[in-house]
Amino acid sequence: MKLNPVSRVVFLLLLNVVFTYGMPPMYEGIQHFSEHYNLPPLPFKFGSMEPQFDAPTMKIHYIEVHSNFTKNMNRLLKDWRKKDKDNPLTKKSLLDVIRNIAQVPHQMKYDLEQQIGGHLNHLFYFATLRANPKNETMEIPKKLQRAFKRSFVNMTLFETQFKESIDKVSSVGFVWLCRVPKRDYLTVYQTVENTTPLTLAGGLQPVLGIDLWEHAYWIKHPNRRDDYYKAWWSTIDWNKVEQLYQWWKNMEPRDEL
Ligand SMILES: [Fe+2]
Repeated sequence: MKLNPVSRVVFLLLLNVVFTYGMPPMYEGIQHFSEHYNLPPLPFKFGSMEPQFDAPTMKIHYIEVHSNFTKNMNRLLKDWRKKDKDNPLTKKSLLDVIRNIAQVPHQMKYDLEQQIGGHLNHLFYFATLRANPKNETMEIPKKLQRAFKRSFVNMTLFETQFKESIDKVSSVGFVWLCRVPKRDYLTVYQTVENTTPLTLAGGLQPVLGIDLWEHAYWIKHPNRRDDYYKAWWSTIDWNKVEQLYQWWKNMEPRDEL
């Protein structure tokens, strides 16, 4: 690819920003209004997730499943903003829209909620995963450890509660670790289909979530959800979980404006 001198300078500057500050997290930008929301790049390569996840699963999950949610969401957002243009919510961010989805007219609400939920749930799911080829244990950052202690007494009790919630999901959905807004502690919450904790129960803020739709694990772990859970657990990037927890916390003063 040949670049003209100006594009070359812009490209090198962007590259410098990425190398200096790292890639922005996948969910960055959902707090701003946009005519169109992009499908952000994954923080890992499809093939790098072995042995826990196979490349075809990751590829299908991202390129087909997640991408379809993003496409459908953008189409429905555009349609709703056009038809309901006097509604002030149409000028707000994606986060504001999903948190106030009850203000969307009834005939458009369900589809919009499901597609935005599908897009956001997958952003949070992928954003907190990492390649872990040697199956190494990752230490949980201190700040997050303190939050776990405040909320669940210890990690074992958290893991028990989280696993019990997974076992209770008989169909499709997600199980989440969420931050409770303004109270700064963590809780476990289940959602069905593509609903998101942001809509339910006072806007719980997802910091970690396991996707329990079969498309997330069926090729490598057919009908073995426990194996999938173990594989997923060993690929959690606890630094990214802490980053997301802090992201929600930093957002709070803005939310109160
Ligand atoms: Fe999924």
